[in-house]
Amino acid sequence: MVLKTIPALQSDYQMQDYEKLVAEFDWKEAEKAFSWYETGKVNIAHEAVDRHAESFRKNKVALYYKDGNRNETYTFGDLKKYSNKAANVLKNCSTLEKGDRIFVFMPRSPELYFALLGALKIGAIVGPLFEAFMEGAVYDRLDDSDAKAIVTTPELVDRIPVDRLPNLETVFVVGDGVTEEGKVISFNKHFEKASKEFEVEWLERESPTLLHYTSGSTGKPKGVLHVQEAMVQQLQTAKWVLDLREEDVFWCTADPGWVTGTAYGIFGPLLAGTTNLVVGGRFSTEAWYGAVEEFGVSVWYSAPTAFRMLMGAGAAAMEGHDLSSLRHILSVGEPLNPEVVRWGMETFNMRIHDTWWMTETGAQMICNFGSMPLKPGSMGKPVPGIEAAIVDDKGNILPPNRMGNLALKKGWPAMMRAIWNNPEKYDSYFLNDEWYVSGDSAYMDEDGYFFFQGRVDDVIMTSGERVGPFEIESKLLEHPAIVEAGVIGKPDPVRGEIIKAFIALQEGVEPTDELKEEIRQFVKKELAGHAAPREIEFKDKLPKTRSGKIMRRVLKAWELDLPTGDLSTMED
Ligand code: WTA
Repeated sequence: MVLKTIPALQSDYQMQDYEKLVAEFDWKEAEKAFSWYETGKVNIAHEAVDRHAESFRKNKVALYYKDGNRNETYTFGDLKKYSNKAANVLKNCSTLEKGDRIFVFMPRSPELYFALLGALKIGAIVGPLFEAFMEGAVYDRLDDSDAKAIVTTPELVDRIPVDRLPNLETVFVVGDGVTEEGKVISFNKHFEKASKEFEVEWLERESPTLLHYTSGSTGKPKGVLHVQEAMVQQLQTAKWVLDLREEDVFWCTADPGWVTGTAYGIFGPLLAGTTNLVVGGRFSTEAWYGAVEEFGVSVWYSAPTAFRMLMGAGAAAMEGHDLSSLRHILSVGEPLNPEVVRWGMETFNMRIHDTWWMTETGAQMICNFGSMPLKPGSMGKPVPGIEAAIVDDKGNILPPNRMGNLALKKGWPAMMRAIWNNPEKYDSYFLNDEWYVSGDSAYMDEDGYFFFQGRVDDVIMTSGERVGPFEIESKLLEHPAIVEAGVIGKPDPVRGEIIKAFIALQEGVEPTDELKEEIRQFVKKELAGHAAPREIEFKDKLPKTRSGKIMRRVLKAWELDLPTGDLSTMED
């Protein structure tokens, strides 16, 4: 398919020349933006909040929050005060120390931001958990990381199996009228009384900050460990790629349970001293267009699934909304279809800028800069300071237009530093100790633009969320009626992919529609709503290797009516 290039528009901001930056830029330059460059005292929460609160930005809005009938505004000064109070609560009501793991498990709310920033101020390692997780998923993550504390809400607290987590000492519950018993501490009660002064724990650039659990194609979800140093790249990309300016209102629609919601829902923009919008609740066309208008959003970072839903709602949904505040739109998480880019041009007279990165990379890696001609269908070019290439399985760089592994030269600032408790897994990401291999396949054209082709493994991207088939298969096998289960991503025009499960039942069990629904509910209840298979197909037997591994690629071939390829390893 030949795609026309969309030039940088006049209405686009003027950005520094990309080629010049690539030639001249050094990450050392970017470090100068931080106070630790001079003081040597490192803490990301200080750089994101306190530094601004102690400057001319004290009374500037840091956070607008809207959800249902809550509509609140917090300045940088407020954010400093409340995250200090949270830090005092966490420290005084538990034995948490520097380096201990604490999880935040709650819907988007100002309290989530106070708690997360407060936890960073005491030097703890924060594990953000998406609110949709159910007991099994919560248990796996807290158990693997040996968590000492968790911050949650009355609605979610029952999903934490405290009895099975002996090292979990403290459960902070955010809400009114919380009864303190056992491990439960009322966050609000102590928050009210807590001092607004707090001496931040000073750390090193390599000290850990966040532990984001994410899925691969095999094994349980793995804990991706990030460090303070990530802030260097998060701020630099917030300037270059998000193009954040002093007067902007920035809206990142991602939940902090996912990496986009922390790296760019919290750190990038706050480090830049930008005003952020946080909207709670689920996606709705009316609420989203309404929020852009009400808060005068100028820079908008969302996902292809959301854009496709807005596109599907048509022009009628926009009527009556003044969206003229928008000046820059970006996308992440899944391939951005040229169709959506065209819709953006027609609808907003603006280019939607794709950005590619992963939980493991910690910040944006391959992007469409504002000053760059944009090729619809391409993710763009590497951020200056980042070296990307297409390599074969041995680590040899392939020439332009050849498909291969999308790889990154090891050693960028925001790179993960470990997989929790699993050094072998960590090492398995790297080829020849030189290339980080992403698990995505792609090619680069002769102009240096990268084009995403698909996952090399069986990881599923559904509505921009990364789901591992293994975790779902394991859960399905716990259902008494199921003997075998194989899970794949099935292409879907709106969600990118949907989850489809192939299931073999116990002898004598009737394959009914009711059973399908029961299985769906089972996964929903035990794992998470977004992990429940939308489609289920019963089979007498599933394709397996001789060693007993489900061959998902064969299931996918069946589903898509494709040739099944080499079946020599399949059992008879
Ligand atoms: C996919 C999300 C195509 C990719 C920040 C990657 C994308 C996985 C893009 C990481 C994009 C992310 N175009 N695919 N612009 N951005 N992906 O860890 O398969 O939740 O490996 O991080 O999302 O998902 P994760």
